[in-house]
Amino acid sequence: MKTLRLQLRFLLPLALTLVAAAYVAVPLLDQVTLRWFSRDLNSRGVLVANALSDSVAEALLAGKPERLEALFDRTIQDERLFAIAVCGVDGRVLQSTRAFPADLSCARGLELAGRPDPRLDLAGGAVHVGVHAVMGLRQAVEEPVSPASAAAEPAASSSESAAEVDPVRPSPEPVLVGRLVLLHDLSFIEKRSQDTRRYLIGFIASLGFLIALITVIVAQLSWRGWVNGVRAVMRGEGLVSPLLPPPELAPFVDDLRASLRDLEDEYRRMQGPEVDWTGERLRMLLHTQLRGDQVIVVSNREPYIHEHGPDGIVVKRPASGLVTAVEPVMRACSGTWIAHGSGSADRDVVDRADRVGVPPGHQDYQLRRIWLTPEEEQGYYYGFANEGMWPLCHVAHVRPVFRESDWEAYKQVNQRFADAVVAEARSEDPVVLVQDYHFALLPAMIRAKLPQATILTFWHIPWPNPESFGICPWRREILQGMLGSTILGFHTRFHCKNFMETVDRYLEARIEDEHSTISFQDKETLVESYPISIEWPDEAVAAAWPPIAECRRRVSERLQLPAVVRLAVGIDRFDYTKGIIERLNAVERMLEKAPEWIGRFVFVQVAAPTRAALDEYRSFQERVERITERINSRFSRPGYQPIHLLAQHHEPEAVNELFRAADICVVTSLHDGMNLVCKEFVAARDDQQGVLVLSRFAGAAREMTEALIVNPYHVEETADALLRAALMPAAEQRERMASLRSTVREFNVFRWAGRMLSDAGRWRLRARVEARVRRLGEG
Ligand code: G6P
Repeated sequence: MKTLRLQLRFLLPLALTLVAAAYVAVPLLDQVTLRWFSRDLNSRGVLVANALSDSVAEALLAGKPERLEALFDRTIQDERLFAIAVCGVDGRVLQSTRAFPADLSCARGLELAGRPDPRLDLAGGAVHVGVHAVMGLRQAVEEPVSPASAAAEPAASSSESAAEVDPVRPSPEPVLVGRLVLLHDLSFIEKRSQDTRRYLIGFIASLGFLIALITVIVAQLSWRGWVNGVRAVMRGEGLVSPLLPPPELAPFVDDLRASLRDLEDEYRRMQGPEVDWTGERLRMLLHTQLRGDQVIVVSNREPYIHEHGPDGIVVKRPASGLVTAVEPVMRACSGTWIAHGSGSADRDVVDRADRVGVPPGHQDYQLRRIWLTPEEEQGYYYGFANEGMWPLCHVAHVRPVFRESDWEAYKQVNQRFADAVVAEARSEDPVVLVQDYHFALLPAMIRAKLPQATILTFWHIPWPNPESFGICPWRREILQGMLGSTILGFHTRFHCKNFMETVDRYLEARIEDEHSTISFQDKETLVESYPISIEWPDEAVAAAWPPIAECRRRVSERLQLPAVVRLAVGIDRFDYTKGIIERLNAVERMLEKAPEWIGRFVFVQVAAPTRAALDEYRSFQERVERITERINSRFSRPGYQPIHLLAQHHEPEAVNELFRAADICVVTSLHDGMNLVCKEFVAARDDQQGVLVLSRFAGAAREMTEALIVNPYHVEETADALLRAALMPAAEQRERMASLRSTVREFNVFRWAGRMLSDAGRWRLRARVEARVRRLGEG
């Protein structure tokens, strides 16, 4: 309808133009045709006059014009010839046909014939007047024409005057003996002109119609092309797809996209997440899609560690991305979490079945603790998991170590956890969430005892390429163990792809890339990417945080920082994959490059001790300490030290305080599955200030594109990013931070778990339907 209206807007002026054209063209055409016909009638008259000339001259010279009557009557049989008369040289009408107007004198006829438009209006219609000289030979003259009558003849033309020089002298030359007046009927011209006018109008109308039709079709096609083009641009096509918008849209495409992006950003910020994933929604999903089935989580690290302290037992929260992510999910889902009881007071708080309700004071779910002997812990955790699998998967230039004894311990502990899962299961088909590289063999072990279980394994660290993985002596066993899972999750598509290629290289399995599934020994595993995240702090939680200025004051006081200082923080486990040395080098380079920041830039590195029983970790810690000392000795001034290395465990509240106090957060992992520190920093900054410097080798870099993304191996680039962060205006910080916050809020950990659990729900439904169909077939 809109298109039609638009087209009318175009067609109306077109129609008016055509009418105007017709208005001008028709009279013009009339005039032209009339002139043509008049010329035509003149020549026709000459023809007729020539034909009659001899007979007329003869009759005139004989002085018997009445002899012409029959001749004239015959001649006017021609429908176009209206009347004929013959005038003598004295100007009298000597003979005429009946229709010849009585009041038309020869002189007037001659005068009319001399006009450009020799037209005479009569009562019955208009006639064309033509006068033609009739010449005769003087010798043949029997009765000479009287001089008086010759004198009465007006001079018609110079040739006629020449012929009348001496009418008496006998001459062989032809002389004028009279004039033929021919009146041609003009009505047929009128008729023709009317016809022409009709044809012309018809032609203009058809032309108009044709132009209108073509216009409408072209307009429709272009309109559709435009609309489709604009729609494609709005869908984001043409950026990466080969479907380019129409060329005429090209000049606007960038503007259009930029405006759309701005609008989208604005909308997202105003509306909040499209679908708000909360703990409540996850609980609902469990009840609807998983029919309230039991959820069992298995991980090595426990979410709460009970330790003996000077004032009695204290509860600690470990520094672990895994725990940060899975704990809120368990609080929402209830169920049982099976983990290694590693705290010094852990045994003192459990019941007879080694269970304790957590979180302390809330008891939302049960923590079932598994006790490991020091040998088991050494072989399975320190040995195979952290000296073998961890460096194997991170490819961070630390060689993996594989010992047979570690492998044996790993198998044995995996079996012990599998037995615990079977013992905790209240049905034959619980939902089991297996966490991380400590339990690669667990899925197949559980599957052996609980074939109906839905086993979701999530690999929290990267998965290497097949060549790197190939150095593991037990690569086939590890892959087979993992393929006991119903769903196998990684943070990124890239890691999924690496895993599928590894299976393809080392196992006889059917891989369906299109569905992202692997069929191995008649069992199918879905391999999917589920980017992990954090629990987004709700308003009540955020309201309880101390104000930003207060956090800054407390941190400055504790660390005795100069009054005016840019504060950057790094918060990690003391692990060689985190790029701590690289970021210290970058701080050093920054102070070299921009010495005006000496005394005004402080970097605080929190490094929670981890796996300290391993040489690699101890020597790494020593190296970091040495480098810190060296840089501090270079740039320290009285009352100022550029780097503060805090090698202690910090509880979540203390970490949050640091995040809120900081101007910059530095995450420079050399390789990281996701990295949740950067997401926690963003969540802590409800003032929408602060700059995130983020390694491109952390999975988070794919989502958090508004951070300053760096290659931590490139010291110069990282130093420049620190400088840029230190100088970033508040408005730019706000713009970037607002966008980062809306991403993390939307893609929170409940969404991560929700996506996995709904995939599991669909999988279980499919399995149940297949079983029913099988039973029907058998019955
Ligand atoms: C990080 C990794 C996890 C891993 C955990 C182990 O958080 O992202 O994948 O499970 O470290 O740390 P831990 O101290 O338990 O060895």
